[in-house]
Amino acid sequence: MKTKMQIDVITIFPQMLERIIKESILKRAQQKNIVKINIHNLRDFALDKHSIVDDYSYGGGAGMVLKPEPIFCAVEKIVSNRKGKRKVRIILLTPQGQTFNQAKAKELSQEEHLLFICGHYEGVDERVKENLITDEISIGDYVLTGGELPAMVIIDSLVRILPGVLNKRESFENDSFYQGLLDYPHYTRPRRFREKSVPALLLSGNHSQIKKWRRQKALKNTLNKRSDLLEKITLSAEDQKILKELKRKRDSGNAITF
Ligand code: ADE
Repeated sequence: MKTKMQIDVITIFPQMLERIIKESILKRAQQKNIVKINIHNLRDFALDKHSIVDDYSYGGGAGMVLKPEPIFCAVEKIVSNRKGKRKVRIILLTPQGQTFNQAKAKELSQEEHLLFICGHYEGVDERVKENLITDEISIGDYVLTGGELPAMVIIDSLVRILPGVLNKRESFENDSFYQGLLDYPHYTRPRRFREKSVPALLLSGNHSQIKKWRRQKALKNTLNKRSDLLEKITLSAEDQKILKELKRKRDSGNAITF
């Protein structure tokens, strides 16, 4: 059996993450022994008795910078205690990193050991970037207070796609982005709510028609909301036919209905 994935996170705010990893799917993935998540307090690796982990920026200017020594010590300890000779991806969360997406989640979910370093304040000493890390990742073009929320976003998205984490009913194959398209619309009980009904086809029990309807709706959703995604995927001849028709209706000003 494949040994479970190990995820380590180095942060100065461990409590921000500890609560989240004890809930929902992340909790279940750990209980099922599919992943082991360890949160490390950077202050435990500070060299002085006041547990100082940050300092002023050389050259002046506002903001504090995370010092290199505690980060090096923390990373070295985690790496030296790793199982076997597992390769460790050492990831710094920073707005300067490569933008995270579903493809990156899939790529990271195939690793055996990930180590996240959460930056804070003005960032981390450049020597950490130059000598320790393998990846810099951003979760989008905006600046947050630190890397803790980005680390949780990334961990959540990659753990849920690890084999065995989601059960069949929760499976991710139809998720938005998973196959390069946005998801199709979902409905649940009641059948009729405030004069609004669930599409009759979904109640028909005709599974091949339902599958077709869902594919059409996913294509329509993607065309209307994120047409840029359509340029990045290879579509079947049938999909292309559907898209052509959707575009024709859109351009002729007709409402697109199925
Ligand atoms: N730290 C601060 N902002 C961030 C972002 N957008 N992504 C990753 N880490 C960050």
